Amino acid sequence: MSDPSNNQKSRSFRVTGLPGDGIGPEVYESACSVLSAMEETHGLQVKLDEQLIGGAAIDATGDPLPAETIEACRNSDAALLGAVGGPQWDGNPAHRRPELGLLRIRAEFNLFCNLRPIVTHPSLHGFSPLREDRLNHVDLMIVRELTGGSYFGKKWRNDDEAEDVCRYTREEVARVTRAAGQIAQCRDKRITLVDKANVLETSRLWRAVASQVIEEEFPDVQMENMYVDAAAMHLLTRPADFDVMLTENLFGDILSDEASMLCGSLGLLPSASLNDEQFGLYEPVHGSAPDIAGQGKANPYAMLLSVAMMLRHSLGCHGEAVALEECIHECWNEGILTKDLREDGYSTTEVTAAVREKLVAHSKS
Ligand code: IPM
Ligand code: MN
Repeated sequence: MSDPSNNQKSRSFRVTGLPGDGIGPEVYESACSVLSAMEETHGLQVKLDEQLIGGAAIDATGDPLPAETIEACRNSDAALLGAVGGPQWDGNPAHRRPELGLLRIRAEFNLFCNLRPIVTHPSLHGFSPLREDRLNHVDLMIVRELTGGSYFGKKWRNDDEAEDVCRYTREEVARVTRAAGQIAQCRDKRITLVDKANVLETSRLWRAVASQVIEEEFPDVQMENMYVDAAAMHLLTRPADFDVMLTENLFGDILSDEASMLCGSLGLLPSASLNDEQFGLYEPVHGSAPDIAGQGKANPYAMLLSVAMMLRHSLGCHGEAVALEECIHECWNEGILTKDLREDGYSTTEVTAAVREKLVAHSKS
């Protein structure tokens, strides 16, 4: 919790650190290093309480989300997660899979609103498989519903059949639509609701509820509807036309990986998963990348941009968020990039050091 003993705006925060698996600990380390630099440069005090999640937690305790981790999050302003998963746990039964730690923390803390900003940057245009002229002015926010749909519906399987129920309630759709409406009001005031309403009943409920919420509570926001198959195409042909893209859990998962290619690498995409109480879980969109783990090749920018989102959305440190993002963009302009983007790329720790140096240089100027 924020320290109330400070008369000025509190500058002291508690964050649960969840390094996780694969490259998770490497990018987490980068976040810790940058946060400690921000203590010097901005007087920001973030006390990190490191806990287990995912495969690391299974190995240590048998449980992908131990009770101690949940307790630590309850006593924190935010949680910062590296990544979970890896081939060594692939054969595990469903209740002992690393991903379950992530799904359970989302459910436990009601993190229904997942924000995945997709912003292209001119100095990275060349890394996208898309034509350069399509990448200018891309600035879209994917708002993915995160605690409903087929991820959390009833599931079963026997040898011959399996089922994953996709279920949504009016309230689940309404609350994430409100979140999207508020975000749209701070942007270009346009929402594209992505669904499959020509086939799915859940999508028809989404359309009815979302349009009612927007009409009644956000009269200044425009909402259009788009089928998910068409949206997948338009993301590639005219990505700059989107402002806020609102969608259900599984569609949002798929579209956000697709959209990441506009920015050049999955290693650049941050995310925030929020509830109604300003608590958030912040994590890079990329996974645990076991193939490059432990080699110093991990791209830390998605994690560092997730730190910026944490500063903005859970800690209320807007100026600091902007300052960190500016340092990151400067590094991009100077070609300080990891090996996913250039063959002769920098290591994770070199990139981290460069971001730290920028923070220090700016604080002195
Ligand atoms: C994501 C990931 C997760 C998801 C997995 C690891 C369960 O792909 O955060 O996008 O599907 O939500
Ligand atoms: Mn995903």
